[in-house]
Amino acid sequence: MFSIRSILQVVFAAVSTSTGGSPRIQWGLCNTTEVNSTAPIVCGNLAVPLDYTEPSSNSTLTLQLLKVPAILQPSKGSILFNFGGPGAPGRESLGLLGPALLAFTGGYHDLIAFDPRGTGNTIPFSCTDNEDDTANLLYDIILGNSSDVALGRLWARGAINAGLCFQKSNATGNLIGTAFGARDLISVVDALDEDGMLRYWGFSYGTTLGATVASMFPERIDKMILDGVQNPRQYYHSPADFEEWSSSDKEFSGIFSSCVASPDSCPLARGNATAAELEQAVWNLLDTVKYHPIPLGRIMVDYDLLKAVIVQSMYSTYYWPLLTKFLHMLLTSDTKDALAVLIELVGDTTTPEESKQLFMSVMGIHCADRTVRVSNFDDFLPVVDQLYNTSKIFGDVTPAISMICAQWKMKAKEVYMGNFQANTKKPVLFIGNTGDGFTPLASAYNVSSGFKDSVVLEVDGYGHSSLAVTSTCIYNHVTEYWSTGTLPTPGTVCHPNAPPFSSTPTLVKRDAFDDISGALRKEFRHI
Ligand SMILES: *[C@@H]1O[C@H](CO)[C@@H](O)[C@H](O)[C@H]1NC(C)=O
Ligand SMILES: *[C@@H]1O[C@H](CO)[C@@H](O)[C@H](O)[C@H]1NC(C)=O
Ligand SMILES: *[C@@H]1O[C@H](CO)[C@@H](O)[C@H](O)[C@H]1NC(C)=O
Ligand SMILES: *[C@@H]1O[C@H](CO)[C@@H](O)[C@H](O)[C@H]1NC(C)=O
Ligand SMILES: *[C@@H]1O[C@H](CO)[C@@H](O)[C@H](O)[C@H]1NC(C)=O
Ligand SMILES: *[C@@H]1O[C@H](CO)[C@@H](O)[C@H](O)[C@H]1NC(C)=O
Ligand SMILES: *[C@@H]1O[C@H](CO)[C@@H](O)[C@H](O)[C@H]1NC(C)=O
Ligand SMILES: *[C@@H]1O[C@H](CO)[C@@H](O)[C@H](O)[C@H]1NC(C)=O
Repeated sequence: MFSIRSILQVVFAAVSTSTGGSPRIQWGLCNTTEVNSTAPIVCGNLAVPLDYTEPSSNSTLTLQLLKVPAILQPSKGSILFNFGGPGAPGRESLGLLGPALLAFTGGYHDLIAFDPRGTGNTIPFSCTDNEDDTANLLYDIILGNSSDVALGRLWARGAINAGLCFQKSNATGNLIGTAFGARDLISVVDALDEDGMLRYWGFSYGTTLGATVASMFPERIDKMILDGVQNPRQYYHSPADFEEWSSSDKEFSGIFSSCVASPDSCPLARGNATAAELEQAVWNLLDTVKYHPIPLGRIMVDYDLLKAVIVQSMYSTYYWPLLTKFLHMLLTSDTKDALAVLIELVGDTTTPEESKQLFMSVMGIHCADRTVRVSNFDDFLPVVDQLYNTSKIFGDVTPAISMICAQWKMKAKEVYMGNFQANTKKPVLFIGNTGDGFTPLASAYNVSSGFKDSVVLEVDGYGHSSLAVTSTCIYNHVTEYWSTGTLPTPGTVCHPNAPPFSSTPTLVKRDAFDDISGALRKEFRHI
């Protein structure tokens, strides 16, 4: 039986191979065991050098690519995507977001993503080969402030994870860094045989990759959007990503101020409680469940789990009605339906297998890129202190990954060591949300300041990257940029079409962060 989708795939496969011109990538049907989309898609492979620092070696790595062909032909060339993590599977993400991204890019561009090296089937980065080691490696990722013994345990866990990953992956762990990822993007551009220029849209970690490829190959950059921007200098050269969490508390508080502004659709709003009072009630709840976890069926809602649920829900305001419903149930001890709400809220994010691979990829890529090592616990404590000072909600969530990287035993063979000053062929468009708890607006301005003629489009909304905000204004500026290259006037601010807690559907892809919470992975491993 043919579904409509597979018929469309056949038609599009024929179109795209017959228009030809790119003999190095043969586009054909996608393997639906691995990827699906409601948009027509085609797939293909490209062999790239395994190790770009060994030009005489013939060893290659096969990148698996997925393309959503332009609706409007002839295509004005391809746009490449990276959805963050690092470690988000490119093909799956583009399969999911393809229909929306076709609209956002104006329909005249082919959209292409591939699973970056260190993810998916391309050098899958792995650290263990037995279930016990795997369970410890994944689930022992606790929050620094969960007890007074947590930080010491995390430091030891970091050493163990770094050792396990080195033992299993010492042959490939230095080949999956971001500079090689940047060269892969250029290899794909070369193989596409269009105009030789990179068009690119990167989200979250994808902005670090984008800033890196733009700095390494400024003359190869056509249009580029960096959306939900990380501070790439800190990503590479700091013992932790401090700036990344500098708007997190602001977004957390935004849950409660938005709630009291829409009391009819926010279950937590009750009586005349102010936003500050509601927020304090949730802080008190976090403290209470630290000592008195709440059993819900077979799940234990403790400090780690509750904070992870909150942090997960900060990807997009889409989750806020359910999150506040859940918090309200806990606060009023009316928990008979709380398990169902919790499962609806976080149960469907990623499969256990995907979640495991994401965590391995985050460690493998981010830690290999990081140039800083710290040799003992006491020397690391000021880093923890600074993370705690930066954010109360995220501060103790993030030491885990930083402590692993601080003790990592592998180093990417190539790391971009420049200063992110780039005179790109065409100017870059940056997008930053004022209430993005994962990548603050400040980082968008930080990177933009080094990129000639680039502009920051400010979005006055909550959630991670423009994908989390439904706004006609963003849509208009982004489609205009992809169609004509015209940038917004500096200082332009877009507003969401509707405030949080209204029922506006929001596009969201929430896959970068569940890799950092051991509690979610553990409690939801069988769901
Ligand atoms: C499709 O993907 C599955 C899962 O990775 C794999 O086992 C299978 O061999 C693939 N099929 C083809 C035709 O490549
Ligand atoms: C894609 O859809 C097919 C048919 O509905 C299904 O069998 C397959 O599991 C899906 N693949 C993925 C990766 O979701
Ligand atoms: C790479 O391939 C070329 C041509 O096929 C061959 O001459 C050369 O020996 C190969 N190099 C290595 C290191 O295998
Ligand atoms: C390097 O990796 C191999 C497996 O790929 C493993 O057998 C060996 O013990 C590792 N070396 C060290 C020093 O851990
Ligand atoms: C709500 O208002 C009543 C009466 O004005 C007051 O007694 C009470 O303390 C208020 N509650 C809160 C949570 O502010
Ligand atoms: C964190 O804040 C405390 C209290 O304000 C201060 O004493 C300490 O120096 C700060 N630490 C860092 C690393 O910023
Ligand atoms: C850590 O816990 C202490 C004591 O409960 C609290 O005062 C502090 O705000 C917490 N800090 C973070 C970042 O969680
Ligand atoms: C950007 O961030 C880096 C690292 O935090 C900092 O050293 C640099 O001064 C910042 N640049 C600007 C222009 O803010």
